Amino acid sequence: MARRILVIGATGLLGEPVAHGLREAGHTVRVMSRSASRARESFPEPFEVAEGDALAVADVEAAIAGCDAVHVSIDHDQEDECVTQVLTAARTQELHRITYISGVTVCEENRWFPLVDRKLRSEEEIRASGIDYTIFRPGWFMEMLERFVHGDRVFVFGKPKRRWHFVALHDLARMVVESHRRPDAANKAFYVHGPEALTLLEAQRSYCRVLHPEIRSLRGTPYWMLRLIARLTRNTRMQAGIAMVAYLETVGERGDPTEANAILGAPRITLDRWLELREREMGTS
Ligand SMILES: NC(=O)c1ccc[n+]([C@@H]2O[C@H](COP(=O)([O-])OP(=O)(O)OC[C@H]3O[C@@H](n4cnc5c(N)ncnc54)[C@H](OP(=O)(O)O)[C@@H]3O)[C@@H](O)[C@H]2O)c1
Repeated sequence: MARRILVIGATGLLGEPVAHGLREAGHTVRVMSRSASRARESFPEPFEVAEGDALAVADVEAAIAGCDAVHVSIDHDQEDECVTQVLTAARTQELHRITYISGVTVCEENRWFPLVDRKLRSEEEIRASGIDYTIFRPGWFMEMLERFVHGDRVFVFGKPKRRWHFVALHDLARMVVESHRRPDAANKAFYVHGPEALTLLEAQRSYCRVLHPEIRSLRGTPYWMLRLIARLTRNTRMQAGIAMVAYLETVGERGDPTEANAILGAPRITLDRWLELREREMGTS
């Protein structure tokens, strides 16, 4: 059944393919962004665009009006506050489903990490809302590998040992779209694991071999040195990135994807296949 679905965070890395996937599945998709003109660049008609701040309840109320489902894929240090506003605004609507992007390490034991605390509070509020929900807990995305490449070098953080089931965005988008169609996906939290487990270094090696053959050396830089570089260059994004990778390497991947795979179909795209597709895409762009 076609619905009108509000996507909050559609201009983001994870939100964009979901918004397009929902549209391709026949839904009317309204994207919320703090900049309507920026959103329009990626979402021409017939996408609907609602400009607004997800922290402002009046903006969320206006964005959600007439929608019967919401997808939340927001990256904000007050993410839980945004979820509160969405659920408050949702009281005046008859929402059939809220889908929410959490994370693969989100669990009580990891609550000491601020992002996990925010995500747990968001998950708890969504569960208590009475609205049918599907929570997604993905981990490393193949698309993130590009972010480690700077000019002719790649940053290798320390000596990564943990294995992660890298996922392609296309697989996550397909699963979210499918969840909106499936009554048996309601009121579930799904772990999203890609088809093979790799360390970050193994994934970076494959990535560079195919897309950056000019980069030959993938030697690790110790965390203390990376932190020093980030501090001296006052690069807050790099500081946040280092903290995130260090945290992930400390706690490791969680969860069992069996139920997600049974209901929504397992992610199929391996890193080799993704690289092949990406190489083709870059060759034609
Ligand atoms: N990236 C990963 O590898 C990864 C892995 C697992 C889980 N996740 C989770 O997935 C979610 C999305 O991550 P991402 O990497 O896609 O983030 P991203 O690329 O940084 O995008 C963030 C999105 O949030 C929106 N946003 C932020 N503050 C907003 C506000 N006040 N009002 C309205 N929209 C706001 C932005 O929209 P505008 O700027 O257009 O307003 C943008 O679309 C996050 O919760 C993240 O923790 C990410």
